[in-house]
Amino acid sequence: MRKKLKIGVLISGRGSNLQSLIDATQNPNFPAKIVLVIANVPGVEGIERAKKARIPNKVIDHKDFQGRGPFEDEIHATLVEAGVELVCLAGFMRLLTDGLVNRWLGNMINIHPSLLPSFKGLHTHQRAIDSGVRFSGCTIHFVHPKMDDGPIIAQASVPIHQDDTPDTLAGRVLIEEHKIYPLAVRLIADQKVSIENGKVKIKEEVVQGAALITQDRNAQTL
Ligand code: GRF
Repeated sequence: MRKKLKIGVLISGRGSNLQSLIDATQNPNFPAKIVLVIANVPGVEGIERAKKARIPNKVIDHKDFQGRGPFEDEIHATLVEAGVELVCLAGFMRLLTDGLVNRWLGNMINIHPSLLPSFKGLHTHQRAIDSGVRFSGCTIHFVHPKMDDGPIIAQASVPIHQDDTPDTLAGRVLIEEHKIYPLAVRLIADQKVSIENGKVKIKEEVVQGAALITQDRNAQTL
């Protein structure tokens, strides 16, 4: 078996997506392992999840640094020291500068709770409901200097119900987030993903074998 891809996960809070990656990596056949978890906020639930799974973890509090440069230098050095090959942003709520993003270009991915390129930024669920779209979802993409931009690796869609609140929609989307993050990491670790002309290309045999777009069954009745 090929050596497992070493991933580092950056979080700011609850860490439920981190947990989905921890759960996936506990399968001995999963082609990646988490070698480091970094949180930029002390005392968050995600760090407890890392500790429970005995994964090396570190709090790098942005408030302890004079500006973004030194904060990001510390993150970069810590990732490199741990031998991280792929950085997974999972609910990491600090905007990264081009400096750090460019150092990890093609090796840093993010999860965003909308069907990009729609609803970049914050309050995605409220904005999706307000706009009247019938579907929302989540996206895993390579991180590029522009916020919530970069080649899309995987997406999942869910229907928006008439009586949805941001919380009910967030809950439905989160279920899909937990499926597509491990899927995207597996595809990258298995070297099935390439970027061509700014778009992600996934090896043919995988597209047929794995659903990159999933849909809540209720959607069919709309
Ligand atoms: C997720 O909805 C993710 O898409 C967004 O922030 C939330 C983080 O949740 N970027 P968790 O910390 O993974 O539970």
